[in-house]
Amino acid sequence: MKSVLIAFALVSASGVSLAADPPAWAYAIAPAPPAGNTTAGKAPAAPAAPDTSLKRLPGSTLEFARAQISDGFGPADWYPGDHPTMPDVVAHGRKPDVRACSLCHYPNGKGRPENAGVAGFSTAYFIQQMADFRNGNRKSAEPRKANTNTMITIAKGMTEDEIKAAAEYFGSMKWTPWIKVVETTTVPKTRIAGGMYLTVEGGEKEPLGQRIIETPEDAEGTEVLRNPRSGFIAYVPMGSIKKGEALVTNGAGKTTQCGVCHGADLKGLGPVPGIAGRSPSCLVRQLYDMQQGARKGSWTELMKPVVSKLTDEDMLNIAAYTSSRTP
Ligand code: HEC
Ligand code: HEC
Repeated sequence: MKSVLIAFALVSASGVSLAADPPAWAYAIAPAPPAGNTTAGKAPAAPAAPDTSLKRLPGSTLEFARAQISDGFGPADWYPGDHPTMPDVVAHGRKPDVRACSLCHYPNGKGRPENAGVAGFSTAYFIQQMADFRNGNRKSAEPRKANTNTMITIAKGMTEDEIKAAAEYFGSMKWTPWIKVVETTTVPKTRIAGGMYLTVEGGEKEPLGQRIIETPEDAEGTEVLRNPRSGFIAYVPMGSIKKGEALVTNGAGKTTQCGVCHGADLKGLGPVPGIAGRSPSCLVRQLYDMQQGARKGSWTELMKPVVSKLTDEDMLNIAAYTSSRTP
């Protein structure tokens, strides 16, 4: 007992801090606009005329205007041949609260860093998550992450049949490579739009620091056209993959080997979700949300000892490694 106390005192004194602040890069909250009236003296900008032109994507015979592409109750399905027939709740949702899953998670369930990849999960895990969103056991530890609240509203509006249909649909598709992981010290300069990092024009670079920047391979294709074939690049710090490997494969004295539950190849085991090749931003939000107790469903109990001692940096390194694994 005495030695435990001494060890604790040493850890505290050495200033090792657990993840006390949300890892800001993973939540990607846009900075508040500067205080004060910044438009003083300027004429108010005329609202831009809506872009009604029809857009196209290579390999698709379809055409959609911008309003259709982002229609919450029937978004564009560019490549109907890429996936099985969508249940109505995935394709159209149901007014007023249940927005179509395919809007944010895409018809193929790949999703984007600001939400989650939902393809390839067991139906049991998927249904459990929907229950957790509904009963208050799954929230964001960052109250400004508005789209997690939107997800909660959607889950609350769904019927049991709709949940089952969505779980079976997304579970029928495998998780396949979607994110390219690159170790680097500098990254293209980005801005935050809707919880996602988009490269700014001009080719400027900036230091990566202790962050992971996950950005579309094709900013316009993702942001404007919501191209479900266009994936993401995750820039991770030099050496982070190797450090993450140590934590994931042997716990490094701080955590439990992930493979015991998530499968040796991290592709999932029975009902436990796969974590290989998935969004590092989403993964770190989950680890932090669980550590803070914002995500606390009955299955989350098994993850509690896993996350309890992790620092922000450990979480980053773990995510660099898991996202670099081939799913
Ligand atoms: C407005 C965007 C949006 C729509 C529409 C949407 N979701 Fe989500 N979904 C999210 C966000 C955001 C998260 C959580 C991200 C986080 O935890 O940081 C999420 C998470 C999830 C998860 C958890 C995934 C995991 O890895 O555990 C499931 C399951 C899910 N959504 C299912 C659905 C279903 C089913 C629908 C359609 C009925 C739907 N979503 C519609 C935004 C959306
Ligand atoms: C004792 C079993 C166990 C171990 C060990 C374990 N996990 Fe988990 N993990 C689970 C279970 C069960 C869930 C589902 C939790 C829930 O539903 O809230 C989960 C969920 C997760 C999720 C959320 C996935 C998503 O899509 O939202 C992440 C991320 C995760 N684990 C990462 C890890 C990492 C990284 C490790 C190793 C450092 C690890 N887990 C070790 C059992 C485990």
